[in-house]
Amino acid sequence: MKVTVSTLARLKADGQKITMLTCYDASFAALMDAAGVEILLIGDSLGMVVQGHDSTLPVSLDDMIYHTRAVARGAKNALVLADLPFGSYQTSPAQAFDSSVRLMAAGAHMVKLEGGTGMADTVRFLVERGVPVCAHIGLTPQSVNVFGGYKVQGKTEEGAAVQLAAARALADAGAALVLMEAVPAALARQVTEALSVPTIGIGAGVDVDGQVLVMHDMLGAFPGKKARFVKNFMQEAGSIAGAFEAYVKAVKTGAFPGEEHSF
Ligand code: KIV
Ligand code: NA
Repeated sequence: MKVTVSTLARLKADGQKITMLTCYDASFAALMDAAGVEILLIGDSLGMVVQGHDSTLPVSLDDMIYHTRAVARGAKNALVLADLPFGSYQTSPAQAFDSSVRLMAAGAHMVKLEGGTGMADTVRFLVERGVPVCAHIGLTPQSVNVFGGYKVQGKTEEGAAVQLAAARALADAGAALVLMEAVPAALARQVTEALSVPTIGIGAGVDVDGQVLVMHDMLGAFPGKKARFVKNFMQEAGSIAGAFEAYVKAVKTGAFPGEEHSF
């Protein structure tokens, strides 16, 4: 059955975990889809894991469209989520809408954008015009130069309050999902309890409604630095299809992430 925003809401209501992986081409999309991964994210992480850049900043909207088309062709049931890349949505809500239209024409069912309370107006603008939105808070990699590195966010009491307020504002604006990257597990849990829409975590502990990992990380295929929250599912599974199945099972049962993957 096709995964839709209604499916995601039902999974949260039933207390079932949502599974997401990043995906950049049709073959991997078909394998992930067959393993039951509910959401395939064409992440702008492709700038690092596919293109070899040292950040996500150089990724263009055309790059995202190319990979979104490929993933959409390979996916059968999974919801296709595409990142709005750096510079394609920050100017204005209208710019965000124009960029989202191109991603949705390429096969995306939902778009993801980075930012806190300041992006709430943009989220509302998109949702009112037919574009479902996943809001990405916490460590937002497009802002790496503002943060001065890839650092855990929301660690101080003040920082946690900023993240909680952002999550509330984005959900109130109509975001269908709120994704948190590299935040303390206790904060992610608090956000998840505060919101009626599902939350997705990466480096956000186990008490969120779903998990995401970068495909190359969970297959042990990325030669760069391995973040604390990454688990290599290929080691035990022995095959790519098996690694995707093991990931789905580990997320669904709450076996992943463990304390060792959390902040
Ligand atoms: O681009 C990406 O892969 C992402 C995930 C890390 C959430 O945004
Ligand atoms: Na991203």
